[in-house]
Amino acid sequence: MKVLVLHGPNLNLTGFREPELYGKKPLAEIDDEIQKTAKDLGIEVRILQSNHEGVLIDTIQENRKWADAIVINPGAFTHYSYALRDALASVRTPVIEVHLSNVAAREEFRQTSVIAPVTVGQIAGLGAVGYSLALRALMYLESPSS
Ligand code: DQA
Repeated sequence: MKVLVLHGPNLNLTGFREPELYGKKPLAEIDDEIQKTAKDLGIEVRILQSNHEGVLIDTIQENRKWADAIVINPGAFTHYSYALRDALASVRTPVIEVHLSNVAAREEFRQTSVIAPVTVGQIAGLGAVGYSLALRALMYLESPSS
């Protein structure tokens, strides 16, 4: 299985930015954990962080033939990016949405995800382990061709 892992805007500052919400682990360490879990599960991953909506969309499109699934933390784009939602809907791969913080327990605007309707599910509030859990969850999903 091949999985594209995407981190949206400001997530490059994870570990330093509001650590009480997003944890103290830098993104590089989170990415190392993702790589390790992927290796254990026999999954090939490509990981990208971008602060730019267009770069995330281009990456989704460029990997549409390569990726069997997408794990994405869309950051604040979660709450308003119809363009990112459309890009995810355009590719026929299962998508899992991950949030470090428990968005359901935060400000009202964070309680809406325009991405969620085009995902198979969400993992929120569990911190960095959410990414590894998402990779594990993908192993249990039925293959689209079966
Ligand atoms: C976030 C939650 C979003 O509301 C916020 O804009 C982020 C991070 C999370 O991982 O908890 O940038 O996606």
